[in-house]
Amino acid sequence: MEKTLVLIKPKAVSRGLVGRIIKRYEDKGLNLVALRMIKATGDQLAMHYEEHKGKSFYGSLLETMLSGPLVAMILEGEDAVSVVRLLNGATDPIQALPGSIRGDYGLEIEHNVVHGADSQSSAKREIPIWFPEEADA
Ligand code: RTP
Ligand code: MG
Repeated sequence: MEKTLVLIKPKAVSRGLVGRIIKRYEDKGLNLVALRMIKATGDQLAMHYEEHKGKSFYGSLLETMLSGPLVAMILEGEDAVSVVRLLNGATDPIQALPGSIRGDYGLEIEHNVVHGADSQSSAKREIPIWFPEEADA
């Protein structure tokens, strides 16, 4: 069964959205197989966002991801990667459709509420960054 990685970003944690966001994935039928609240380190974020290094938004992205604890989870299910991306909605919450998680909770692209791995290979790369015990799983 396919696995994917989701991060509930710090601003969403401080806004009290964790339960509602997890419920969206569970309601869809995805299985929550690992869950952790963690204050990210700069090293973890540099690995996680290596594809974005050098882009205009990289600095503010790292700043917001370091602003408080985040919630990391592994979700499992059929086509979990693309199902999560569909539930998350477009990157920019202004464009994200109502009913999607980003569409329902927020207005600012830099503070969209969740991250979802964008492919199976990204999920395999990202999962051990947040769940080192899964490195050999
Ligand atoms: P994510 O990785 O968070 O699931 O989002 P995504 O694939 O839809 O978008 P991506 O291009 O990977 O961007 C990662 C995060 O960077 C912030 N961002 N800001 N200001 C901007 O133009 C901009 N573009 C992207 C967003 O917070 C996005 O989730
Ligand atoms: Mg991405």
